[in-house]
Amino acid sequence: MTESPAPELHVSWEDVPGALAGTHVWLARADAAHATPRGAATRILSRLLRVPAEGISFAKDLHGRPHLVAPAEASAYSVSTARADDVMAVAIACGVPVGVDVEWTTRVPDAMAIMPDFFTSAEAAWVASHDRFERDVAFYKCWTMKEAFSKAVGLGASFGLREVELGVSGANETHIRSVHGGRTLAEGWRLWHHVVPIGGRRAVLAVVDAR
Ligand SMILES: CC(C)(COP(=O)(O)OP(=O)(O)OC[C@H]1O[C@@H](n2cnc3c(N)ncnc32)[C@H](O)[C@@H]1OP(=O)(O)O)[C@@H](O)C(=O)NCCC(=O)NCCS
Repeated sequence: MTESPAPELHVSWEDVPGALAGTHVWLARADAAHATPRGAATRILSRLLRVPAEGISFAKDLHGRPHLVAPAEASAYSVSTARADDVMAVAIACGVPVGVDVEWTTRVPDAMAIMPDFFTSAEAAWVASHDRFERDVAFYKCWTMKEAFSKAVGLGASFGLREVELGVSGANETHIRSVHGGRTLAEGWRLWHHVVPIGGRRAVLAVVDAR
């Protein structure tokens, strides 16, 4: 499925265009009021559900995916978090799986060298087609979308990034082409990514859901 822009992005210090309609996405510096992604998720859910923060608790499944265990009436909500040094992201959706990832574009200095381990040759060629100023951004668009997808399906560490094949072309045309070489798991996902300029640096934020 292709990307679809929409509102509902809450950013504490930068104004950026919307993420995926119906999915809440929140981005902040980790040194801000909400010091951890889990803490931020708790505050956001407290507001959304109108329950005290103390009434909200999470558990993790066998693969490490977080899910709400209280309040019981919130079991339809899915939550995903990510942190990259001093920036963190939270995505919350109701009734559908969601995954989020955020990375600074400067995080892996040798990003291009590791592409064969994580990217298909078509993805690597797409990244390499950018000029050197935009190449890191293109790399992290692919990276964060794959990570966000692996969180949305809940397999996390057991999911090799190379098993998620993106269809990438142009600036914003992105979809999941195949997963483990097949179409079955690849259908029905929405992908969104955005480059956020923060204090002279750039972070790439990606969100995947299944509406
Ligand atoms: C699980 C994974 C996606 C987490 O990514 P990360 O960059 O280490 O860390 P992030 O800050 O982006 O995300 C961490 C959050 O992911 C979430 N997470 C962990 N396992 C998850 C799973 N199976 N499903 C959904 N979410 C999961 C947790 O909420 C975790 O936060 P917490 O530990 O504070 O609760 C990642 O470790 C991974 O295994 N990726 C697989 C792909 C791969 O090959 N990566 C190569 C890394 S070199």
